[in-house]
Amino acid sequence: MTTLRLAVGSDHAGLDLKRQLAAHLRELGHEVADLGTHDHESCDYPDFAAAVARAVAGGQADLGMLICGTGQGMAIAANKVAGVRAAVCLDTFSARMSRLHNDANVLCMGARVVGPGLAEDILDAWLGASFEGGRHQRRVAKIAALEE
Ligand code: RB5
Repeated sequence: MTTLRLAVGSDHAGLDLKRQLAAHLRELGHEVADLGTHDHESCDYPDFAAAVARAVAGGQADLGMLICGTGQGMAIAANKVAGVRAAVCLDTFSARMSRLHNDANVLCMGARVVGPGLAEDILDAWLGASFEGGRHQRRVAKIAALEE
């Protein structure tokens, strides 16, 4: 298995699930940088979405994972950073397809939506799939063109 560098982040709503999934990633042998938040005090998800998105876009991390209450705010914010393709995945099929077809580089999940077991399965499905390229490369290139 390839060792990956993952940047992970959450707000207060996603903190516990993020910690659980970060431990899972480390058990799998991946390098994990936890960019916050680090406590349960109420905070603003865009701050952590920005930190993880910039780490991925800047090449300090291969992939990112962001957890908030729903995953939605994290994805909306992370997708403002050029080069980031953040996908909210609440099931394993979407997780796999977001890698195969969309080359998603940030996985967003909602701790108030998925339980810990499903979240781990979603993460495993996401990491286990890689971009198919081909016709999907042309489509992803068109997404990148929207950033210009
Ligand atoms: C925090 O209450 C909540 O709004 C946040 O975690 C997230 O779900 C936003 O998208």
